[in-house]
Amino acid sequence: MNSDKDVLSVQELTSRLSQAVEEARYGGEPQSLYEPIRYIMALGGKRIRPLLTLLAHQLWQQDPQPALQPALGVEVFHNFSLMHDDIMDKAPLRRGQATVHARWNENTAILSGDVMLVKAYERLMQVPDGLLRPVLQKFNQCAAEVCEGQQLDMEFEAQEGVSEEAYLDMIRRKTAVLLGFSLELGGLVAGADAAACQHLYELGINLGLGFQLMDDVLDVYAPQEKFGKQVGGDIIANKKPFC
Ligand code: IPE
Ligand code: IPE
Ligand code: MG
Ligand code: MG
Ligand code: MG
Repeated sequence: MNSDKDVLSVQELTSRLSQAVEEARYGGEPQSLYEPIRYIMALGGKRIRPLLTLLAHQLWQQDPQPALQPALGVEVFHNFSLMHDDIMDKAPLRRGQATVHARWNENTAILSGDVMLVKAYERLMQVPDGLLRPVLQKFNQCAAEVCEGQQLDMEFEAQEGVSEEAYLDMIRRKTAVLLGFSLELGGLVAGADAAACQHLYELGINLGLGFQLMDDVLDVYAPQEKFGKQVGGDIIANKKPFC
């Protein structure tokens, strides 16, 4: 494992990440397909998931370079899921700007989102050859669970009430598994053993549960000028948050 003196600061990792996002190219023609991708990626966001990948990688490796493109893949996947989530949640605002379907239209947001998933795979495939199969297997499991969680989230809109257990299962799938995968990915690329990777995954699950609980609280109580999304959007959509 790296000792403290070998570790890059969070600021340094964030700046490497920002540079990778800025330099990323998604495709040229037709512009109308790729422009919404550049738009949503340029809106920023906290970029917490790729940072988790780099932080996990730093536990064993000083040079973040081998983890950068896979980490970017996680962020592209996250933004793809938001593009489609905003259609499903009828959300007008994302990161203080119009959502893709509001600025263009729903069909554009569906198709640009679809190609974003492909672009996420392109970056995840930049792991060392020997890791390709395990990384893609774990990512596929995670991506399917995100869809399952999103489906449950929508089904809960039509239900009177939802048990605590069902809510936690839903947010584990729609949100927590991606934080789990983000951390595990960093460990895998760094060559960590299976037990360490499993611990990283579980840490991400617990972080992710807390993260979504807080996101649900903020959706109801955050000040509009700081939130960047429509405050009360979950109530309007009849979501079943925990708060
Ligand atoms: C929003 O994620 C979707 C949730 C899982 C709550 P973030 O809060 O990480 O969104 P950005 O990327 O920072 O905008
Ligand atoms: C989104 O959850 C989870 C995924 C995109 C998979 P939310 O619907 O709560 O996210 P926000 O509040 O729109 O960012
Ligand atoms: Mg939403
Ligand atoms: Mg949603
Ligand atoms: Mg939310």
